[in-house]
Amino acid sequence: MDELNSGDLSQLQHRHLLGLASYSADEIRLILDTAKEFRDVLERPIKRVPTLRGITVCNLFFEPSTRTRLSFELAEKRLSADIVNFSEKGSSVSKGETLKDTALNIEAMKVDMVVVRHSSPGVPHFLTRCTKAQIINAGDGGHAHPTQALLDLYTLRECFPSVRGLKVSIIGDIAHSRVARSNILGLRKLGAEVTICAPRTLMPYNAASLGVRVTHHLDEALQDCDVAMALRLQLERQQASLIPSVREYHTRYGIKAEHLRRFPSFLVMHPGPINRGVELESEVVDHERSIILHQVTNGIAVRMAVLYLLTASADRVMRARP
Ligand code: CP
Repeated sequence: MDELNSGDLSQLQHRHLLGLASYSADEIRLILDTAKEFRDVLERPIKRVPTLRGITVCNLFFEPSTRTRLSFELAEKRLSADIVNFSEKGSSVSKGETLKDTALNIEAMKVDMVVVRHSSPGVPHFLTRCTKAQIINAGDGGHAHPTQALLDLYTLRECFPSVRGLKVSIIGDIAHSRVARSNILGLRKLGAEVTICAPRTLMPYNAASLGVRVTHHLDEALQDCDVAMALRLQLERQQASLIPSVREYHTRYGIKAEHLRRFPSFLVMHPGPINRGVELESEVVDHERSIILHQVTNGIAVRMAVLYLLTASADRVMRARP
């Protein structure tokens, strides 16, 4: 059973979480196993443990966010960390301050960890080179959103006996989706069979090399899958109009109640934010086969696990450096 436990591994081999590409399957399992323990903490009357007492975390958000930002903030509070929140709006970025200077100033305030979201791919990597703080990627452009993929994997482990062999179809704007990229990596590392489904204009140029099945037909993606993961159209990242209309997109790629009737077993996931009536018919969002809000709840436990394990790994990885 691949993902029941993380074997002998007790610590992450990384100081940062920039993406899942460099994380081994064992490290991913360690995060998911640890998240299970924190998930139990969240069911207690007092949902707080002293694990990160004395650690200061800065949530550095240059892009809008509801779930990721609140979820990280709650995870940090549940672990008793000290928190500072930064939004680009209202900051000195509007006066011309660079990202590097923003980061250096935050570091000068003795921040230990930075959770960063930015519209440019690679910003979390850049921050590792200009500050000593530990960096967690909370979404960088179309590149990666590792904690979203981890919480999705956690939710799948809750719903199914094993991720290995699970058939997961990711449907929507794959080309611009950091969630799709991170999920493909995580799902494949744990042995799932992944299908991606999109119009040709919303497929990544390297789809054939991702180790997934590729289809442009929604019925093909849905007919034998265990899970359909719908994605939002990332209109803010599209350089040109890549679909004839949102209405036509919904007609061809929106998951509807009639799909739930015709294909009676798949569960529905979505990372949020949802555009009801576009990628998912409203009835599908609210259907008992939708596990979208479970994903949100699990996100806090998974982020607690990431924060805890990275803090634990920091000293050891620093000591091992030449
Ligand atoms: N899933 C996700 O990243 O949602 P937010 O953009 O609201 O954080």
